[in-house]
Amino acid sequence: MPITVGIDVLQKASEKNYAVGAFNFNNMETLQAILEAASELDAPVIVEASEGAVKYAGASMLFNMVQALASQISIPVVLHLDHGKDFSLIMTALRAGFTSVMIDASSFPFEENIRQTKRIVDIAHAMGVSVEAELGTLKGIEDSVSVDERNATLINPQQAVTFVSETGVDYLAPAVGTSHGAFKYKGESRIDYERLKEVKKLTKMPLVLHGASGVPESIVEKAERFGAQLKGAKGVSDEVLQEAVTCGINKVNTDTDLRIATVAAIREVLANHPQEIDPRKILGPARTAMKEVVKHRIGLLGSTGKA
Ligand code: G3H
Ligand code: 13P
Ligand code: ZN
Repeated sequence: MPITVGIDVLQKASEKNYAVGAFNFNNMETLQAILEAASELDAPVIVEASEGAVKYAGASMLFNMVQALASQISIPVVLHLDHGKDFSLIMTALRAGFTSVMIDASSFPFEENIRQTKRIVDIAHAMGVSVEAELGTLKGIEDSVSVDERNATLINPQQAVTFVSETGVDYLAPAVGTSHGAFKYKGESRIDYERLKEVKKLTKMPLVLHGASGVPESIVEKAERFGAQLKGAKGVSDEVLQEAVTCGINKVNTDTDLRIATVAAIREVLANHPQEIDPRKILGPARTAMKEVVKHRIGLLGSTGKA
């Protein structure tokens, strides 16, 4: 299929209460792992490139890889710019053919976030491209965090309504207690479900969960066995993630789990076969490991068979 526009996939997910997996990629092996897994599960999928990924691989390289692989399979594939902050880099992604972009102005005051988001929405919509924006600060919820502190960092549902109507954004990433990376929580993983449900009830739009990686213990243990240092790593449990989908999440971002699976597999090959110098023998097992991660993640979201 040709690359699909973001809102076409996420509107359906929002209406039918399931979530689409969104996976970060920088290279061919990761992209192949994501698309093979999604295709085998007959699930729509979003492949996303951060600004760092665009700088590393080039926007047109990323677009052409996705186009080449997507045209060989029959599931909807969306190409999304993750955490776009730089205006000219967002324009580069739009010109290259990305079908969804995120404008992340969440670190600015509310009015400035609205201004920057609306500017991108106006341009992207004129090109037929969907837009994601973020409200609140991504930060894990710990027992020690007071209600006042929570209100200061997490999304304000009333503000979300104003934000959506003033910007015309297509989907919204609410800060509800997750954070990026491998060290999300000191205690148990948790999300502010009530706040999330309120945002869904008031906006009725597709919602996005950032910092959603599960950081599975078995993969962390394997990486550590072969020398990685990940003491204290903790992610969002599968149960918490599924509850977040029930509460209205429709796009689930995963990067860290793919990274950990990659280093665990590469470290294993290099430790067991120190004479190996063929990159295909080193990166191939990483691709297989990432594919397993993607299948597991999609399996949690309810999008299997929804292509
Ligand atoms: O949200 C951040 C993603 O994990 C991308 O990370 O900016 O290092 O590519 P990156
Ligand atoms: P993780 O670090 O939990 O994988 O989150 C990725 C993400 O939100 C990308 O935007
Ligand atoms: Zn993110």
